[in-house]
Amino acid sequence: MKTILVPGGAGFIGSHTVKALHQHGYKSIILDNFSNGYKESVLNGEVIEGDIRDSALLDKIFTEHNIDAVIHFAAFIEAGESVVNPLSFYDNNTAGTLNLLQSMQKHKVEHIVFSSTAAVYGQPEEDDALVETLPKLPINPYGQTKWAVECMLRDLAVSCTFKSIALRYFNAAGSDPSGQIGELHEPETHLIPLVLQAASGKRKNIKMFGTDYPTPDGTCIRDYIHVCDLASAHVKALEYLFDRVEKTEGFYDAFNLGTGTGFSVREVIETAKKVTGIDFDAIEEDRRPGDPAFLIANASKANEILGWQPEYPKLEDMIKHAWAFLKNR
Ligand SMILES: NC(=O)c1ccc[n+]([C@@H]2O[C@H](COP(=O)([O-])OP(=O)(O)OC[C@H]3O[C@@H](n4cnc5c(N)ncnc54)[C@H](O)[C@@H]3O)[C@@H](O)[C@H]2O)c1
Repeated sequence: MKTILVPGGAGFIGSHTVKALHQHGYKSIILDNFSNGYKESVLNGEVIEGDIRDSALLDKIFTEHNIDAVIHFAAFIEAGESVVNPLSFYDNNTAGTLNLLQSMQKHKVEHIVFSSTAAVYGQPEEDDALVETLPKLPINPYGQTKWAVECMLRDLAVSCTFKSIALRYFNAAGSDPSGQIGELHEPETHLIPLVLQAASGKRKNIKMFGTDYPTPDGTCIRDYIHVCDLASAHVKALEYLFDRVEKTEGFYDAFNLGTGTGFSVREVIETAKKVTGIDFDAIEEDRRPGDPAFLIANASKANEILGWQPEYPKLEDMIKHAWAFLKNR
């Protein structure tokens, strides 16, 4: 049985991936400092409380456990906060990952799947689905910290036999259909959980920022991807690195993960009203700076090369599962 170190495995996407790893016969060692994760979200594997910036702890983990690969989720994720506190984002996301990579190299662990983001593309002009080869022009420190890590992985692959895949997620959504684990960000800034908070009465209403975009209903369009589909993509990426990359070569590649279908803010709100059977107020506000009208993934590279396909592309399913998780809590 292969053992995977999962930094950030107690968070939203990490906890779903730990479950998928278990289902595919892998053992997970979860390293999380619980800055934004929850012990009860980890359904399988061994949990170590600690920080990716702690070199001594990483040495201990790599010495005591026979780690075959790393799937790395640990990061600060809130783009708005990264504008206010850029250095803490560079420290955690970029320097933290540098520390992890140095430790991996020291202990001859050569395979990593890294959580990257659509934020590396910044604010593209086009409304076509985005392909991986587009220029990387992040508009906030968060996106920049992730692109900096991708550059390290790219350069490392040239210098030695280190093998990495960066997965650029679009908008992660939904929950495990069992309702056991789900999205619990603090503060919450993602649209679907905020809309469901409005449905549950936890917040008074939901705000729509910008209703005059050049989209069919005037609100922004985003590509939502079910968290279980993200989890399965990590397993595919890991197996690609293990089985299909030449052992004697360095390797780095990046893949978009989305469904290729966009849903507008209004569609999300209307679907949530339908799924929950609850009406709530949606307030029209001015546009926010830095919000492109369209952000849609072209994920055909992941479909073709990794053999990955989303199982839950319907917005209704994403909202239904997220709602089941909220009600469960
Ligand atoms: N949620 C999304 O829509 C989305 C989109 C694109 C990319 N991503 C990326 O995916 C990854 C996971 O996102 P998420 O939504 O699950 O976030 P999350 O906040 O739920 O999970 C991150 C986890 O990392 C842990 N962590 C943070 N810093 C750490 C450190 N220094 N040492 C150890 N643990 C640390 C947190 O406690 C948390 O459990 C992040 O890297 C994020 O940038 C997320």
